[in-house]
Amino acid sequence: MARIIAVASGKGGVGKTTVVANLSAALAALGQSVVAVDSNITTSNLGIHLGIPMYPITIQDVLNGKARLKDAIYHHSSGFRVMPADISLEKLLIPDTNEFLEVFYKVTDADFLLVDTAAGLGKEALAAIEAADEVLVVTNPDLPAMTDALKLGRFAEEFGAITLGVVVNRYRGKGYDVPPLEVADFLGMPLLGLIPEDEQVKRALARKTPVVTHRPRSLASREFMLIASRLSGVPHRPPRRFWPF
Ligand SMILES: Nc1ncnc2c1ncn2[C@@H]1O[C@H](COP(=O)(O)OP(=O)(O)OP(=O)(O)O)[C@@H](O)[C@H]1O
Ligand SMILES: [Mg+2]
Repeated sequence: MARIIAVASGKGGVGKTTVVANLSAALAALGQSVVAVDSNITTSNLGIHLGIPMYPITIQDVLNGKARLKDAIYHHSSGFRVMPADISLEKLLIPDTNEFLEVFYKVTDADFLLVDTAAGLGKEALAAIEAADEVLVVTNPDLPAMTDALKLGRFAEEFGAITLGVVVNRYRGKGYDVPPLEVADFLGMPLLGLIPEDEQVKRALARKTPVVTHRPRSLASREFMLIASRLSGVPHRPPRRFWPF
């Protein structure tokens, strides 16, 4: 049975899809079997991050009962599988928790199912979060993102999901950044990882590939590997620590 982990944030644009794409690649590099699922139907872009925006069969077709699960799962060159969402307006729909559950629980041949969720705390995001067993919270080190992440944590608790912890993304180490341990303390959850602001993440996006694959030695990639190691328990030789935790 796969561990079903929703990657969620509350506030949009903090790096959920980046985290899903890169943790999938990092877990795969540690020998884990991963399926990355796009549950963000209204503004899906996991496929765009991975360089394949137009898939013939997508999660919408599975949710509609028009396709079998295995036909909507594709192999990515970074070593993991992906169940994308259709980006066209014609296939907009907002599934409920049970519909997501039906899809997620059909994936039986993976160690991890990483679910990219929609921005905000509307029906679409909450249905995917409720259908997951565990939640990984992504935030930036600023108060607006943290406030929304706090609300998300409350929902996760209400749903009985295990909150794995928070990944603080786009940390610059500047005075205006909230220190990572303070972010974790504010949210009342463990600090699972700290991803620096790294130009290589942008470069990798332009190359439509996870930075872990594109630039494995970049600062961001090293941190993604450490998070993957923490999540899976598979040892990974840690690089020198650059960050204060
Ligand atoms: N660590 C980082 N360093 C530099 N740029 C980053 C980093 N993380 C994310 N970004 C950039 O931030 C932008 C938003 O990232 P992403 O699409 O992953 O956010 P999101 O939370 O999935 O957004 P949405 O809520 O709209 O789905 C992208 O352009 C991405 O390249
Ligand atoms: Mg996204």
